[in-house]
Amino acid sequence: MIDFSTQYLGLKLNGPIVVSSTPLSESIDNIRRMEDAGASAIVLTSLFEEQLELESKALDEDLSRGTESFAESLDYLPDLNDYRMTHEVYLEHLRRAREAVNIPIMASLNGATTGGWVRFAKDMEQAGAHAIELNTYALATDRSQTSAELEMQLLELVAAVTVAVKIPVAVKLSQSFTSVPHLAARLENAGARGIVLFNRFYQPDFDIEMLEVRPMLHFSKPSELLPRLHWAAILYGHLNIDLAITGGIHSAEDVLKSIMAGAGITMMASALHIHGIEHIGRVLADVRYWLEKREYASLWETRGCLSRRSVPDTSPFDRGNYIKTLSSYSLRQTVAAF
Ligand SMILES: Cc1cc2nc3c(=O)[nH]c(=O)nc-3n(C[C@H](O)[C@H](O)[C@H](O)COP(=O)(O)O)c2cc1C
Repeated sequence: MIDFSTQYLGLKLNGPIVVSSTPLSESIDNIRRMEDAGASAIVLTSLFEEQLELESKALDEDLSRGTESFAESLDYLPDLNDYRMTHEVYLEHLRRAREAVNIPIMASLNGATTGGWVRFAKDMEQAGAHAIELNTYALATDRSQTSAELEMQLLELVAAVTVAVKIPVAVKLSQSFTSVPHLAARLENAGARGIVLFNRFYQPDFDIEMLEVRPMLHFSKPSELLPRLHWAAILYGHLNIDLAITGGIHSAEDVLKSIMAGAGITMMASALHIHGIEHIGRVLADVRYWLEKREYASLWETRGCLSRRSVPDTSPFDRGNYIKTLSSYSLRQTVAAF
């Protein structure tokens, strides 16, 4: 039997597939099915900074109106229905998820700035989260904000959360940083125990008839895995923190490539929305079959074997790849033209 056991954020996991943050985990029944299908841990859907700030603003306004009746004050409350869960509901769901399964449950805190809301990391710890995944989606839209300021904001946020809790914290990182290795090392210094590569962006689409800009959520494709493999392969062996890959994990091949690049675990969301939760079991069986055919005793024998530090020729990871790819394409074109 192939050994699938691994460690992530200091937690013992029984396999390489973790369920990524998605509304699928808002149901306890789904959480049980994820465990049955072979998920080794689950990251719950996110609690958002904006949601927490809105709740606390609503509470402040409500208290300052003191003498008004409860029914009246309800009219003033911001519409929290736009968000999936209030923080109390979130914490209760987290407690119930912990009780329902034996695999680790990670809470997800989603925000971009330090502030009062960060204290909810502590609430998540108290509610039983095994770890926290910090999703730090922040977009630079202000011309006066420099890259260095954005990175500093992220590092301060990570430090604030890691100081607040004893449980491990992983950072779900955006791909749009110039020097990922440098930032990763600084995140390690700020107390992060893991880096999740990468947050997906949901760029809005443009409707040219209605002249509207609309939010668009589309599921990932396996081709999205490539930049993640690339960066995991570059980072592997240069940090003392764990690497996870999220984005484009759909098949056994995707899982194997990610581990070979150096990831400790892989995460799935879109594939579960498309094929159902039981897809985890099918992918794990395919990974096992692939390894058995090649007489591996454990998945971890393959870990990092295609990372930048393991391969004899590092040029595919560097500028050499870029030049080779472009020049080989133009050569083919030239031959075809004659
Ligand atoms: C419907 C849906 C909802 C999601 N909600 C969250 C969320 O609340 N927090 C978060 O960090 N990521 C969220 N994600 C992103 C996923 O966790 C994951 O990182 C991303 O989809 C890439 O993985 P995939 O290729 O397996 O889908 C969501 C993804 C989907 C498809």
